[in-house]
Amino acid sequence: MSWVQQLRANEAICNRAPSAHNTQPWRPEYHADRIVIDVDAARSLPDSDPTGRDLALGIGAFVETCLIVSAELGLSVAAAPGPQLIPAANRYRTPFTIADVEARRVARGPYEPGYVDADVIADLEPGIAHVPTRDLAPDLEVADRWMFGTPPVAVELRDWLRLSPRHPRYHLDGLTDRALALSRSEAWALSAALRAYRVTRRLGLAALLAASGRGLLRYDGSVLVLLADGDDRIAAGRRLLRTWLTLARHGLAVHPLSQLLDCPATAARLAERVGGQPLAVFRVGHPLAEPVRSARRM
Ligand SMILES: Cc1cc2nc3c(=O)[nH]c(=O)nc-3n(C[C@H](O)[C@H](O)[C@H](O)COP(=O)(O)O)c2cc1C
Repeated sequence: MSWVQQLRANEAICNRAPSAHNTQPWRPEYHADRIVIDVDAARSLPDSDPTGRDLALGIGAFVETCLIVSAELGLSVAAAPGPQLIPAANRYRTPFTIADVEARRVARGPYEPGYVDADVIADLEPGIAHVPTRDLAPDLEVADRWMFGTPPVAVELRDWLRLSPRHPRYHLDGLTDRALALSRSEAWALSAALRAYRVTRRLGLAALLAASGRGLLRYDGSVLVLLADGDDRIAAGRRLLRTWLTLARHGLAVHPLSQLLDCPATAARLAERVGGQPLAVFRVGHPLAEPVRSARRM
């Protein structure tokens, strides 16, 4: 088997890469001696991610995941602009393994109080800022209200929610009730509210839903911010994945809060606070409950 065929045979592991709303927007095109990582436009989020920031980060995370998988398979593969995977002289050097890729998962439930240790932060690649959770709690409420109160953004989220196991795509993609750590009644209420979005929006749904996330950052914990280092968003996505895997090696889970970057007002305040261009924002800590494994197309 060629290296392309071997990596293709392990596509299901590469698909464990994270992506916003679990859209899995990558579309690998397998050629004889290279793999071009194309974007599936139907899996982009034009309303919630108009600049394509999260799309590029997800593609970058997929590229990095493919490289980790290829290294463990003993294949000499490198990433090249495109992005694409091409043959290389040596195996990709990475401390991470297929087991790390398989074990990685976002955790959205409550976390134990406590800040991330300075030596853990020192173990991360440069370009990470630390903000205490409580400092961002008011802005998270503003961002949630913006998200649920902006019809195209809320509708796009609704389209990727799979709030009941009866949803035909429950095991394939999107965000399930279990992945979102919702109780059965919370899932039912969210589903009903979003189904009748036009009406409930007028009734103050945005404020209601924003209020439900109010407690999320009201504990003493850490939020980390991935800062841009140049314009290469694919490289940033690769760094994001390595950052999450390094944190996982320290026993720490992450929970992205991209609405803080999507909402123009809170994005501007966060950029000012960290003195750079934030590309990803996530709380970090020890979850109180084991997070579930998210769905994938294969
Ligand atoms: C660039 C990016 C942005 C994300 N933003 C959010 C977010 O705002 N809120 C959230 O709960 N999860 C967010 N996620 C996490 C994805 O929803 C998650 O990766 C996906 O559902 C697959 O789940 P898993 O990472 O547990 O495998 C983001 C992931 C990426 C890569």
